[in-house]
Amino acid sequence: MALIVLASASGSPGVTASALGLALTWDAPVLLVEADPTGGSSILAGYLRGRTTPTDSLIDLALAHRQGLLSEALPEATVTIEDTQVSLLPGTRSHTQARSLVPLWQPLAAALKGLERTGQDVIVDAGRLGLAGSPEPLLYAADLCLLTMRSDLVALSGARSWVETLQAGFEGVGGSSSLGILMVGENDPYTAGEVHKVLRAPVTASLAWDEPAARVFAKGGSAPRRFDGSALVRSLKAAHAAITSTVTANRADLVVPVVGSPV
Ligand SMILES: Nc1ncnc2c1ncn2[C@@H]1O[C@H](COP(=O)(O)OP(=O)(O)OP(=O)(O)O)[C@@H](O)[C@H]1O
Ligand SMILES: [Mg+2]
Repeated sequence: MALIVLASASGSPGVTASALGLALTWDAPVLLVEADPTGGSSILAGYLRGRTTPTDSLIDLALAHRQGLLSEALPEATVTIEDTQVSLLPGTRSHTQARSLVPLWQPLAAALKGLERTGQDVIVDAGRLGLAGSPEPLLYAADLCLLTMRSDLVALSGARSWVETLQAGFEGVGGSSSLGILMVGENDPYTAGEVHKVLRAPVTASLAWDEPAARVFAKGGSAPRRFDGSALVRSLKAAHAAITSTVTANRADLVVPVVGSPV
């Protein structure tokens, strides 16, 4: 279906937990890419608790790209999260490797978009915007870029200038991508409507503020009772539906009717 990128403007609003939560509750095979230039794979250390030690990561793809072997190396660099439809492309071990990834982002964006043919969706954790080595080409190649934020004044203040920058950037690439807000913990204190009004960007979905359930995704904590029916998991499933319909609507807008053809 699509390439979906999650990023934050400030704070640690829950990009990694939300990206992983979406991937694990997605109803189709999905590739989760850890493209946060901060490095240190939050998912290997957090959700997977250091029990999985993949041999390859994004840095190996950068090397493969230099040899013209990116598409061949991509499946080999991923690891399947046990008992799920999620493949993980782990991020770098250290922030010092981030600059080596810069030449990779553009060709990786094309390779990830090509996965659509295989029926696999892609969710990217792009980390915090503006860092050295930030995967900006992935943002601009995405079907939907979700600026992930909380709902307080600090979050609004941090997001404002980034919304303007991203919207201008998306216009620059011809509007093939679009920007939405993914709110983590709505009504604390601002509603989605208020955030929309201030930022002038649509709130695509809201995830529930649910610490016990979020700890499962962020730290690999044991699942609380009735985890599958928890507020966070229910909101992740609703977010999936909202994301799918937003991408479908964006694509329909991009289809230019041929003159003379029935509309
Ligand atoms: N929906 C949620 N409800 C409650 N707590 C949450 C939620 N999402 C994330 N958290 C908590 O917020 C903290 C930060 O989450 P996470 O690491 O996903 O943020 P991040 O934006 O990826 O941060 P960083 O910028 O450091 O990568 C974690 O302790 C996590 O459990
Ligand atoms: Mg993170």
